[in-house]
Amino acid sequence: MELGGEMGVGRALMVCYTVYGNTENAAKAVRDGLASAALEAECRKIQDTKPDDLEAFDAIIFGTPTHMEDIPDDVRRFMEALKRVDLRGKQGSAFDTHTRMNKSAG
Ligand SMILES: Cc1cc2nc3c(=O)[nH]c(=O)nc-3n(C[C@H](O)[C@H](O)[C@H](O)COP(=O)(O)O)c2cc1C
Repeated sequence: MELGGEMGVGRALMVCYTVYGNTENAAKAVRDGLASAALEAECRKIQDTKPDDLEAFDAIIFGTPTHMEDIPDDVRRFMEALKRVDLRGKQGSAFDTHTRMNKSAG
């Protein structure tokens, strides 16, 4: 994801769900990487974020752990709530953390 360049530098929000802290740590590392490139970025937990809050940002990066080979219910509910939010024109990205519990996975 490119923040900056001809489109101008925007504000990025790292919004993550975390139970044990792994995903939050990864989100903070991405935030710190953006900040080191002089890009404005902040990190919030989904639990502390209202869907409408996303409208104030130019780029949204979602972080979630994998739960039962899927996204956690709280993340799904947050994503469903975003259907009512105008996110047109924003950049988006997402990542997960997991422990590769499915041994058949490549
Ligand atoms: C209820 C639960 C279900 C999980 N299910 C999976 C899974 O299906 N596959 C996997 O690779 N990891 C699974 N994990 C491991 C987490 O995805 C992994 O530890 C993740 O980094 C935790 O993130 P967090 O520290 O931000 O909560 C599960 C963890 C929990 C607590």
